[in-house]
Amino acid sequence: MAVHALLNIAVRAARNAGEIIVRSMNRLESLQITSKGRNDYVTEIDKAAETEIIGLIRKHYPKHSFLAEESGETKGGDTDTVWIIDPLDGTTNFLHGFPVFSVSIACQHRGKLEHAVVYDPMRQEIFTASRGGGAHLENHRIRVSKQRGLEGALIATGFPYRANMQHIDAYLAMMRSVMEHTAGIRRPGSAALDLAYVASGRVDAFWEIGLKPWDTAAGTLLIQEAGGRIGTLTGEPYAQNGNLIAGSPKTYEELVELLAPHVTDKLRD
Ligand code: IPD
Ligand code: CA
Ligand code: CA
Repeated sequence: MAVHALLNIAVRAARNAGEIIVRSMNRLESLQITSKGRNDYVTEIDKAAETEIIGLIRKHYPKHSFLAEESGETKGGDTDTVWIIDPLDGTTNFLHGFPVFSVSIACQHRGKLEHAVVYDPMRQEIFTASRGGGAHLENHRIRVSKQRGLEGALIATGFPYRANMQHIDAYLAMMRSVMEHTAGIRRPGSAALDLAYVASGRVDAFWEIGLKPWDTAAGTLLIQEAGGRIGTLTGEPYAQNGNLIAGSPKTYEELVELLAPHVTDKLRD
């Protein structure tokens, strides 16, 4: 299958950003770090990786628009095409030298996700998807797991640790139910990679609250193209409000049902 030119650029941009990130791993102590809020840090590497990604895309597509974590929204002459970018997803892990993080790049046209890349620079694994073209890990087609429900399922999640602390009680109640009904929970620390792992069947489902569009845009297309489902905590189509469940179709359905009693009004917004 011919790879779309936009996806090719996204892959190149992700690999370049990954190289910047990995090269800096041996000088973590000397990185410039600034705080954006409680437990929310940005390093010079987040910024350098983002500059590299946007620079490369712009070189080929000067009119496109961007929504990127560190530089925010940048409107180009073409506002129909928006690149949604998290240059380093898993900064807390990165800062500690805990080798689980990723680069997430999605290309959206008229509100529809068209292309997606999630790149794990430590494993050098590149997950890609194009709308209608399936999802791939390198050159292999990937699909969500065949898991038919929660019994025996492995579930990924992200714990609240920033502003989303206000939901801690609801979250802990959810976690308890998931622990009681599944094979176990993992908290790798990069939401984009968690979604890529659902898409490739390494975990059966994922849920988290308080995510941002750049955490989830690429992963959303990966899940959809891998035959999975992604939605809000109440099972509605995913509205980019940051509270989501994704999984193999059956696991997704059962997780929506299991979490339902713990979804507060605030989490429904
Ligand atoms: C974070 C990671 C983490 C998730 C947080 C995100 P960042 O992104 O995806 O797994 O739990 O909610 O904000 O800040 O490292 O890009
Ligand atoms: Ca992120
Ligand atoms: Ca980030």
